[in-house]
Amino acid sequence: MIALSSDHAGFPLKEAIRAYFDEKGIEYKDCGAYSADSVDYPAQAKKGCDCVVSGECEKAILCCGTGIGISMAANKVKGIRAACCSDYFSAKYTRMHNDANVLCLGARVIGVGAALELVEVFLNTEFEGGRHQRRVDQIMELENN
Ligand code: RB5
Repeated sequence: MIALSSDHAGFPLKEAIRAYFDEKGIEYKDCGAYSADSVDYPAQAKKGCDCVVSGECEKAILCCGTGIGISMAANKVKGIRAACCSDYFSAKYTRMHNDANVLCLGARVIGVGAALELVEVFLNTEFEGGRHQRRVDQIMELENN
């Protein structure tokens, strides 16, 4: 199960991803926004991230205007490694090297076609482990200090 969440600016992209998941039969939990009415991105980041931290969802996809604000908020949630991506290489390697569990996208930055490619590679790329595990552990240790 994948959590989907957005603010008003990210709403159109979140809806496009939702339609894509419907088409592909990918299970998701829609945490809103449910319209283009203004809603603050930190609260929306928390809703999506909470689904990951609780184990209800394996990953989350978060959308705001730039992808940046919602990623900043997401990375404040303990247990979350959120990556704001607008290129394919980053979306792939943040899985392989950072074991990112949240992908953040900017609806005002990239088009739907590119965003869906990033979603696809993010969801289908495994963490490499090995030396990268040590570094991911070090990231998570920062939460305890
Ligand atoms: C909302 O206008 C916009 O500021 C927000 O979606 C996001 O881009 C913040 O980082």
